[in-house]
Amino acid sequence: MRIAWITDPHLNHVSSHDWDQWSDRIASTQPDALLISGDISEGDDVVLQLRRLADTVAVPLYFVLGNHDFYQSSIARTRQAVIAASRELDALNYLTDLGPIPLADGVFLCGEDGWGDATIGNYEASFIRLNDFEQIDDFRETSPDRWKAKLQQLGAESAARLQVKLAAVPRDATDVLVATHIPPFRESCWYEGKTTDDNWAPFFVCGEIGQTLMEFCQQRSDCNTTVICGHTHHDGVATLRENLTVYTGAAVYGSPGVEAVIEITPRSQKQANGASDRPVVELVKNLA
Ligand SMILES: [Fe+2]
Ligand SMILES: [Fe+2]
Repeated sequence: MRIAWITDPHLNHVSSHDWDQWSDRIASTQPDALLISGDISEGDDVVLQLRRLADTVAVPLYFVLGNHDFYQSSIARTRQAVIAASRELDALNYLTDLGPIPLADGVFLCGEDGWGDATIGNYEASFIRLNDFEQIDDFRETSPDRWKAKLQQLGAESAARLQVKLAAVPRDATDVLVATHIPPFRESCWYEGKTTDDNWAPFFVCGEIGQTLMEFCQQRSDCNTTVICGHTHHDGVATLRENLTVYTGAAVYGSPGVEAVIEITPRSQKQANGASDRPVVELVKNLA
């Protein structure tokens, strides 16, 4: 199975011509499915973009939403609209609303939006204030002295949902692929080849999701977990444990791409092919 991984396409910044080129680029990777790790567009446009993409690519689309997907709207209204569209269109699969999805023998896909949840770094001393606070109703309608609590609440809610999903992954699973928008660890929060400092970390790391992933990987040491995320627009790989690797994808506004193809070869099939040393979930970057 081949999954084309896309992150942060920000399609509201993309011209019609570039959109067509991008969809041709996706098709050229010959995917069996697409996986998008958020920042698809903005709240007033995200459903339209998802429908357009589903009509164009003719393969299942798995995705989570990023902070920009809630701009010009509220978090609840956007999620409701996306859930409604996903229930109507078979090709659309909003992972935040779904339990573990079997991809291949012993391999499952889970996802959660996540949020920069002010649990890592130093929120009080940070000079950063994201556009989120002006562009998303939930923050505009909350007094600034409650923003930190709101961020923590959003991270905790995402982590609680992910915990339920991971607990539902069958005991004999060999691999789990997790899609989320916000890097779950400081070590996976890349900017120009370096990991984040205390100013940016509160808004660019979802510590609660990180903790949930770490606990799952400690409990299930026989299961490999591969996490893909975006949000920083800068790429990097972090190995947190022997069975926990996080890939963060790059992005450029106005120029969407394909971050990698994720190849999934079930363990049973690899053994039959005599290639049992290769990972079950393998990322192929630098696509031709
Ligand atoms: Fe983004
Ligand atoms: Fe983002």
